[in-house]
Amino acid sequence: MRVIIEPTYERLSQWAANYVAKRIIEAKPTAAHPFVLGCPTGSSPLGLYNELIKKYQAGEVSFENVITFNMDEYVHLPEDHPESYHSFMWKNFFSHINIKKENVHILNGNAADLAAECEAYEKAIEKAGGIDLFMGGVGPDGHLAFNEPGSSLASKTRIKTLTTDTIIANSRFFDYDMKLVPKQALTVGIGTVMAAKEVLLVCNGHHKARALQHIVDGEVSHKWTASMLQMHPHAIVVCDEAACDELTVGTYKYYLDKERGNL
Ligand code: GLP
Repeated sequence: MRVIIEPTYERLSQWAANYVAKRIIEAKPTAAHPFVLGCPTGSSPLGLYNELIKKYQAGEVSFENVITFNMDEYVHLPEDHPESYHSFMWKNFFSHINIKKENVHILNGNAADLAAECEAYEKAIEKAGGIDLFMGGVGPDGHLAFNEPGSSLASKTRIKTLTTDTIIANSRFFDYDMKLVPKQALTVGIGTVMAAKEVLLVCNGHHKARALQHIVDGEVSHKWTASMLQMHPHAIVVCDEAACDELTVGTYKYYLDKERGNL
C-alpha cells in the first residue's frame, strides 16, 4: 500500500486529481478501449471532483471515452431526491465534464428486483473490461462504499443494511433526522473493489483518524472493511495531516520519507 500524506485537504485533492488525470491521459482511451473509473460519493471526494473539473475546463483531460461505475446508492430513495447518489454525482461532477450519459453507471436503488440489479451491475463491470481505477472515500468506522463493519471481504455487489453509526453520520444530509436516512443501500462489494486494477482512497479530517489507523497500521479485518486494501497490489491512500493523528510516529515518518525519496 502506498500512503501519501498531504498537509491540507486542498493539497490532498490536488494530488488525487493529478493522479487520476494522469492515469486517464496515459491510457489514451478510445471508444473501443475506454478508461473505466469507479466513483465514490460523500464529502471527501468533493475536492478531487472539483480539481478534475478544473482540469477538464483547462483542456488537460477529457472524459469522452471514460466509463464510470458508482460505488453505491440508497435503496428506495427517489432518483431525483437531492440526496440520492444519482443527484450527487450529476450535481458535483458529471454535469461539469464531457462524460456521455450512456457511459455513466449508478446502481438503481428503486429496481423492482434489487438482487437482479446487483447481479447485472457486476456483469456490466465485467463487460466493460473491469475497473481500471476505483476511487473511494472511507466512513469513520472504516467502511468502504457501504461495506459496513462485518461485511464479507470477498463480497460482490449486493444490498446492505446500514449501521446506526452510518445512519447518524449521514443524517447530516437529511436535516439531522435519522428517520429520513434510508436504512438500506445497494453497494459494490469489497471483492468488487479489490478486482479493480488500482484503488485510490481519499481520507481526510481528524474524525477519520481511527479509520486510517486501522487501514494503514492495523490488521486486515472485516470490522474495518477498507483495511482489505492492504491485500491489493496497487492501492494508494491519500490523506491529510489531520487524519494521521492515530498513526504511529514510525508509520507516519516512514511514509513521508518514502515519498520524499529519503529511503
Ligand atoms: C457514505 C458512502 C461512502 C463514503 C462515506 C464517507 O457512507 N457510502 O462511500 O466514503 O459515506 O463519507 P464522507 O466522505 O462524507 O465522510
